[in-house]
Amino acid sequence: AARTPFIAGNWKMNLDHLQAVAFVQKLQWTLKDAKHEDGSVEVGIFPPFTDIRTVQTLIDADKIPFSLGGQDLSTKDSGAYTGEVSGQFLAKLDCRYVIIGHSERREYHQESDEIVAAKVQAALRYGLVPVICVGETADDLEEFGASAVPVGQLRVALEGVPADADIVVAYEPVWAIGSGKAATPDQAQDVCAKLRAVVGESLGADAAARTRVLYGGSVKSANIASFMREPDVDGALVGGASLVVDEFAAIIRFQK
Ligand code: G3H
Repeated sequence: AARTPFIAGNWKMNLDHLQAVAFVQKLQWTLKDAKHEDGSVEVGIFPPFTDIRTVQTLIDADKIPFSLGGQDLSTKDSGAYTGEVSGQFLAKLDCRYVIIGHSERREYHQESDEIVAAKVQAALRYGLVPVICVGETADDLEEFGASAVPVGQLRVALEGVPADADIVVAYEPVWAIGSGKAATPDQAQDVCAKLRAVVGESLGADAAARTRVLYGGSVKSANIASFMREPDVDGALVGGASLVVDEFAAIIRFQK
């Protein structure tokens, strides 16, 4: 089955709830008549937790065809976990997705592969689609090459995931994030194909064929088409360029 391209904007810790209103309205206006309206491209917005309700209201009121997601979630469902946000709260705000294991969580919040795996399970408990992020640092790249670390990270994340689970995988080389130095399309294709093979080993051939594998790391309007041309790259996880309306709109309108 053909995989619908997925362009996901991870706002990270940017745009407060008032800025979010202005941004989403301007993006929607800029995209009028764009092909995401006919479902040929899925657009995902991943705002900070404090903006999710706001963005949900806008999407709802204007019937905007954007999918919504959280940038993280707790491994726990509820209880005495100050500062944590449960997957069930995200699900109740119509989030379909949640980013898990972003390199910034791994680096600044010491998230291990085991925590990432527990978060994947937490997402699945509430019907959220985990966007599982994996990728090698510059040191990893030098020592082990590009694919060994992300392949290992994904294997752990998929432990105990049922074969029919809906998941998304994002390959984000850490050295390419926010650096302006994207991987080449060849590099992205090579690792994304290996990650798809891991999905196949862990969840079976159907899951490998169905699961979208995204590339992330300095994606912009000028390079999106070159990634989307690759057979195993099904979309992009966009950081910096997702905060600029015209850039993000141009990425959504990529032409192969
Ligand atoms: O989640 C998004 C990625 O970390 C990519 O960020 O597009 O600013 O390089 P970037």
